Amino acid sequence: MSDFLPTKPYKGTRDFYPEDMHLQKWMFNTLRQSIETFGYEEYDGPMLESFELYAAKTGEEIVENQLYWFTDRGDRKLALRPEMTPTMARMVAARANELPKPIRWYSIPNLWRYERPQRGRLREHWQLNVDLLGGDPLLADYEIIQLTQKILKDLGGQGKAKTLINNRRLINYFFSEALTLDAPTALKASKAVDARAKIGEEKYQIWLDEIGITQNQSQKIENFFNATFEEIKSEYPCEGTQELIQLFALIENNENLSPFCQFDPKIMRGLDYYTGMIFEVYDQSPDNNRSMFGGGRYDNLVGLFGKESISGVGFGMGDVTLKNFCETYKLFPDFGRTLDVYVTLTEESHKTYMHKVADLLRNLPSQPLKVATALTASKFGQQLKTADKLKAKFVAIIGEDEIQKQCVSLKNLLTGDQTQVKLEDLEKVNFNL
Ligand code: HAM
Repeated sequence: MSDFLPTKPYKGTRDFYPEDMHLQKWMFNTLRQSIETFGYEEYDGPMLESFELYAAKTGEEIVENQLYWFTDRGDRKLALRPEMTPTMARMVAARANELPKPIRWYSIPNLWRYERPQRGRLREHWQLNVDLLGGDPLLADYEIIQLTQKILKDLGGQGKAKTLINNRRLINYFFSEALTLDAPTALKASKAVDARAKIGEEKYQIWLDEIGITQNQSQKIENFFNATFEEIKSEYPCEGTQELIQLFALIENNENLSPFCQFDPKIMRGLDYYTGMIFEVYDQSPDNNRSMFGGGRYDNLVGLFGKESISGVGFGMGDVTLKNFCETYKLFPDFGRTLDVYVTLTEESHKTYMHKVADLLRNLPSQPLKVATALTASKFGQQLKTADKLKAKFVAIIGEDEIQKQCVSLKNLLTGDQTQVKLEDLEKVNFNL
């Protein structure tokens, strides 16, 4: 055992070095801009919540196997948030009467789940949450589906991932009417189906056996999963099917949306609170097989807090799969040179002038620049190397001549061009390369 502390972060978490932050900031800024075009407003809540908040509706898999929880010094049982939806529902319920409806909210919280780290799944991730509460459920469902593809388009990945849609009321109808399962068994069967891709065929079959699903019922499940939308319409006439028909009628009228949306009876969603339309978004690349977005309609979440019950619909989209997506399709821009100017110092006695130049550049009225100064006086060649490593676009060179003329020599590090500029003329220089 080494005496030194490890430099590796805790398993399943990531360190974000500045180069990683460039990617994250670009993704999050793009998401924010995209969602705000639909009039959504950002909110946030605490990282810690009471354990009960998740025990109520989040679902067995997360609560029993993935939740990070502890008791605090006051003996309260708390959990690190594994998802944002319960916090959002709690916040909406707390102001249910005052908040103007419909409520269009989004957030990008970081979340914790004790998972087996693998491609697309970690123990800490950031998750864009978009939720729409109130209004006509059909129009709200449609807007949320529209947003999934709008976001992908704004990231530059239009058509690279599909929105696969199903409906919980249809699934419930199938389990109760076609399979004649009682509600608890139906829930267990839906969990097995949801986990199928993750656990493989053998474990899936064992799971079904354990629940008590017969061969005949298992065959019916297969038929249901392989059914086309036309077959579903005729064989499973129910409220859920009606909702899907109406939703797809709207989607089909939008030629920018319909090629990227599809009915998929295999979509189950692992969380317990969904009651109506549900969906997941899947990247078309076989390298990225985990879902990118997951969401749906929940009728009874806000009502859990004893306030006015208000139905909502929304989704979560994780940053891990999003980053894989952006890398696979080369969507990240070249962040290039991120510092505008590096101001050099070759003589101790030039310090005051160096600071004057830097402040001027940082406060240019037309273009406030990102400016770093040398912290030790050294030879010019060395400073030039430092500026290059810091990815500066320009180096501001200061010498006796510049101080005397009240100017600065600006060297463009990309072209190597150098010009002397009077301090009062700095405003006119174009620093954008
Ligand atoms: P979820 O399906 O559990 O839904 O997660 C949504 C998305 O978050 C996933 O599709 C995935 O991109 C990402 N994600 C989940 N777990 C992990 C993980 N361990 N590592 C990396 N990424 C992960 C929810 O959480 C719902 N609360 C979403 C929602 C909002 N429903 C309605 N409103």
